[in-house]
Amino acid sequence: MSTTPAAPRKKVTTLALRQKKARGEPITMLTAYDFATAQAIDRAGLDTILVGDSLGMVVLGYETTLPVTMDEMLHHCRAVARGAAIPLLIGDMPFLSYQVSTEEAVRNAGRFLKEGGMDAVKLEGGRERRQAVEAIVGAGIPVMGHLGLTPQSVHQLGGFRPQARDASAAVRLLEDALILQEAGCFALVLESIPGRLAEHVSRRLEIPTIGIGAGLGCDGQVLVTHDLLGLFDRFTPRFVKRYAQLHAVMASAFTAYKADVEARSFPGPEHTVDMTNEAWEAFLGAVGAENQPAMPRKADVSKADAAK
Ligand code: KIV
Repeated sequence: MSTTPAAPRKKVTTLALRQKKARGEPITMLTAYDFATAQAIDRAGLDTILVGDSLGMVVLGYETTLPVTMDEMLHHCRAVARGAAIPLLIGDMPFLSYQVSTEEAVRNAGRFLKEGGMDAVKLEGGRERRQAVEAIVGAGIPVMGHLGLTPQSVHQLGGFRPQARDASAAVRLLEDALILQEAGCFALVLESIPGRLAEHVSRRLEIPTIGIGAGLGCDGQVLVTHDLLGLFDRFTPRFVKRYAQLHAVMASAFTAYKADVEARSFPGPEHTVDMTNEAWEAFLGAVGAENQPAMPRKADVSKADAAK
């Protein structure tokens, strides 16, 4: 039986995502903030990686995404870019990096590509972002929009809560989606909105929608990787499916390590660098064997204490 080697995977582009939508193939996306996770996501063959500003909550421990800075985002973008070659890499523009002026929005978006190694940026908001999106796209930078629960507006929304559940909010969201498409967005994240609305919006748009808490009718799905892995346990949104319980795995690994160190069963000879007997004898000859310091053992220390 002959085995044909798999064709080398090609770098994912915004066009490839659009073609997936046209073929009805689901688009896969996860967040990453570091080299190792980016590598694992790339090896798993996902289409795209978002360096989300969720970084602020799940890695940096802030209560919301609002304090996240451009420098923090770029630092983590560079790590992800070093780890992932194939997925489309999207950098999330942090709060106040694109809202103040169109010039700032373009300059900051450009930094994600020039300094962060990203292929595209994401920003939150609807019609009020039209100008910023047009200007960034005009500078040759692909933009992903984000509608529904937009965490940078958490105080305006009154908390992390589902959005667009009444008819007028749903109409407004559909209008916003069409405006963002018109402004040049290559895709939209739809977060925490009713599934049937997300499906309707996805059908009305030519560009792909990526859902998080928006049901199966979107063209793709994204989750925050720390939620999926069970690494962030401050709270878990209802729409998260946990595929692992890494917090518990970490806790038991750390406990086992502590016990091994305390019992002197780690490191073993297999974890320890050795030198030849000749080199050792020569060393002792050089320093004088009688100068070899004795290592205190717990038992010796207690015997010495008892003798006092
Ligand atoms: O910051 C983030 O991780 C996001 C995703 C939840 C879409 O915006």
